[in-house]
Amino acid sequence: MQADEVLRRVRREPFMPETIWIVDEGTGWFRPLCRADDPKGWRREVESERSVIIQVDDGATERGRWPTSSSSAPYIMAKMLDALEVRPGLRVMEIGGGSGYNAALLAELAGAGNITTVEIDASLADHARRALTQAGYPVTVITGDGMQGYRENAPYDRVVATAAVREVPYAWVEQTRPGGLILVPWVASFHPDEPLATLKVETDGTAEGRFGSPAWFMPMRSQRLRQRTIRETEERWAAAGKPEACRYGVTVTPEGQRIWLDSPDNPIT
Ligand SMILES: C[S@@+](CC[C@H](N)C(=O)[O-])C[C@H]1O[C@@H](n2cnc3c(N)ncnc32)[C@H](O)[C@@H]1O
Repeated sequence: MQADEVLRRVRREPFMPETIWIVDEGTGWFRPLCRADDPKGWRREVESERSVIIQVDDGATERGRWPTSSSSAPYIMAKMLDALEVRPGLRVMEIGGGSGYNAALLAELAGAGNITTVEIDASLADHARRALTQAGYPVTVITGDGMQGYRENAPYDRVVATAAVREVPYAWVEQTRPGGLILVPWVASFHPDEPLATLKVETDGTAEGRFGSPAWFMPMRSQRLRQRTIRETEERWAAAGKPEACRYGVTVTPEGQRIWLDSPDNPIT
């Protein structure tokens, strides 16, 4: 089944919390939009083709500067699901459970019993668990740091991160079967487009792959970059002649990771 079909079949609304966040045009801050106060506005947001922000500033309640959890734009979810090549029976670990909506889409594709999702924020993990159960998807929702993966349900055929990294934890490679795929958005640590990488896990315990299209995901909590680092990335990339993201690749081994340009023989980090 194609991702587009799954997105038509599973509605986003049951996974959206009663309070979502929108930008206040006057102040530029995010402000809460409660379903009870503005049901039409709430519905317009959750039925839109945009991402829906479900948490700001790691759990602020009145106003916020930075989105820290969101249900991604449907076209991005579709693109990632198709790139992951999820089929019935494959075991999948998602990092960043958020609302639970993407886990429900994965459950439609692979079977709910095959899906594990790890969410670091306890209130979001509770929300995702409840929403998935009510919607009839008995996915395993783990409250914890996704950087460790979740060894108890390994090995996985697919790992998908829905928060960006600057370093792929080796735990994800160890917990993926040889031949399995790891799909992960990147922070702006080497390219300003924050591209997606698709890595294949090899029999020798390494994983390697190339970068592709931009994704612009919020970073994993421990992987956030300072604005200065982002500016320096842009300058380094410009000085290198602004290579397309697809010319870069990454190799992950037990000793660490290397990002390279054109070929693994040409590491840039
Ligand atoms: C873009 S949102 C995920 C969207 C989610 N897949 C959905 O369908 O709603 C990114 C999520 O990653 C979570 N996150 C950030 N750092 C994490 C970590 N170290 N381990 C697990 N989850 C993390 C955030 O709390 C946030 O909910």
